Amino acid sequence: MSHGKKVDAWTYNGTVPGEEIRVTEGDFVKVHLTNELDVPVTIHWHGVLLPNKMDGVPGLTQDAVQPGESFTYEFIAGDAGTYWYHSHQHSSLQVDKGLYGVLVVEEKKQKYDKDESFILDEWAVNQDKQNLSNIGGMMMGSMSGDGEADTKQMYDTFTVNGKAGSSIDPLILNDGQTARLRFVNAGYQVHRLVFPEGSIEVIETDGEEVSDNTESSNVVEIAPGERIDVAFTKQDGEPTVIGQSNNIEHAEDMKIPVVTKKSDVSVAMNTHLSSNTSVVDGTTFGSENLIFNKTPANPDVTYNMDLSMGMDMGKGMAFQINDETFPNTPPIQVESGDIVKVEITNSGRMNHPMHLHGHRFQVTSKNGKELDSPLVKDLIHVKPGETYTIYFKANNQGEWLFHCHDNNHADRGMVTIVDYKGVYSPFELGGKNNNSPN
Ligand code: C2O
Ligand code: CU
Repeated sequence: MSHGKKVDAWTYNGTVPGEEIRVTEGDFVKVHLTNELDVPVTIHWHGVLLPNKMDGVPGLTQDAVQPGESFTYEFIAGDAGTYWYHSHQHSSLQVDKGLYGVLVVEEKKQKYDKDESFILDEWAVNQDKQNLSNIGGMMMGSMSGDGEADTKQMYDTFTVNGKAGSSIDPLILNDGQTARLRFVNAGYQVHRLVFPEGSIEVIETDGEEVSDNTESSNVVEIAPGERIDVAFTKQDGEPTVIGQSNNIEHAEDMKIPVVTKKSDVSVAMNTHLSSNTSVVDGTTFGSENLIFNKTPANPDVTYNMDLSMGMDMGKGMAFQINDETFPNTPPIQVESGDIVKVEITNSGRMNHPMHLHGHRFQVTSKNGKELDSPLVKDLIHVKPGETYTIYFKANNQGEWLFHCHDNNHADRGMVTIVDYKGVYSPFELGGKNNNSPN
């Protein structure tokens, strides 16, 4: 564990994570960003359906905000749910350095005794951050069949709300109370959280209410970039803990003590939970509110998205969409009103959590098999060998990113654009503002 250690971070308002922004559905949100760093930054509102010019993507929806300059974001928080915000300028570096926070849009009527958010991340504290071009390690990893071997070697410390191990703030609840716990994965690795048996129900994924959560489990897997909310009930008895499953190294850092009073924290930290065999994740549950009542028979646009790994001369690993790296990847060309079908296939050996800006999509089938309960999301975690079919309505004009939320993969090419006919971005990639969206 890394007690008393410090890392060099970049922050929104002085802390990692940046302070939680909590609003009520329907609220008008206005955020002034002033850049006091010596590199350009932006803020992207991950998962929020908003006008394109507020999306915070440099080179596409705005110029990166230069040192000393400012930018004001404004939008209506129309849909209750868990969201997050992060810089979209050179994300692989800036999100990693701490430029992120949680955005909670509360329902008008609150149903729980407590409501708290937890944002998960990984850091390199006791070692220098390894570079992804460490091909040896990556090749070894991909032979081992581990879909994120490329990042595992880079980090040695896991954090919850910016703190590790015994510094993590406890969740304080009375026996029998139920809390809404909102988890956001801001890191590069899948996090598998173990809860006391029988204590949770998954209620929301990516801001969308879950329809039937009868599948009961006490282990929840959250992909990079993904959000999963659970209703957690503190059972009678001893202090307990919510913690990373020990399926990976450094798991012991990521433990949230659950106590009725602060003095019980050390007892809680010594609890060991057993994970039952079934693991639920962001693809387990169907959604309550669908975009399409049945799978659209005649989409206006069909795009096959093949995710693969390759080599870039002189730069090492490349992560590709249809054999190209951004900005050469073929865009998804749509017209306002179109129904768009995208078939995503991961033919590589790494996990790819694919995230679409400005829209939600309906996942209708997996590996060619129609899902019994379709799900509505903005991020789908596509593991090696998997294929998902998704549909969305082109109902939000603009230029929108669709990319892997393992930001290192995005940095190395795995990004494309949903490009609306007749919409032209006045901004440019690179240029004097150094716009770098990935
Ligand atoms: Cu979390 Cu392109 O976004
Ligand atoms: Cu990826």
